[in-house]
Amino acid sequence: MDADLLKGLNEHLKLEFRASHEYLAMSVWLAEHDLPGFARWVRQQSGDELLHAQRIIDHLVERDQKVVLPAVPAPPSGWDTAEAVCEHIMRNEQEVTASIDALYSLAEKVRDRPATVMLQWFVNEQMEEEAAARGLLGRIRLAGNTGVGLLMIDQELSAGRVPGIQSQAPASTA
Ligand code: FEO
Repeated sequence: MDADLLKGLNEHLKLEFRASHEYLAMSVWLAEHDLPGFARWVRQQSGDELLHAQRIIDHLVERDQKVVLPAVPAPPSGWDTAEAVCEHIMRNEQEVTASIDALYSLAEKVRDRPATVMLQWFVNEQMEEEAAARGLLGRIRLAGNTGVGLLMIDQELSAGRVPGIQSQAPASTA
């Protein structure tokens, strides 16, 4: 594998582990603030981020490439509002998307087809992750950070409905 691509894939692991760690911290904060649906959804995201890291690790191991696991910084322990949590999620996802885009371009440039195919999954995944973060942030800005609006959003997440993800819409009966 191209040395820069290997280095980039290993460096990308840090973003996935950091996101996992930060989402876990957010889920604790949300649970402490009586938003169980929101907390559960964010904890699910935390687990998903570990799976994302694992995908890249598996790819490197299968190709006999050296995996270098990163140190993960301590996450923040609190946020001012649920909106601030969503803004943080949005920033993380945009950063991950930018990193994936750069890796994808590099994999194409060095004609590494297996890496390109592996990264294509991430391109699609990031579209969905950013859509969910954007949808959630929009709903919170519409509904307000406190009171009934926030409780409604929490109930939506409890029911497994994530704003911004169109594929969850009930099938048409027509
Ligand atoms: Fe693995 Fe949410 O980026």
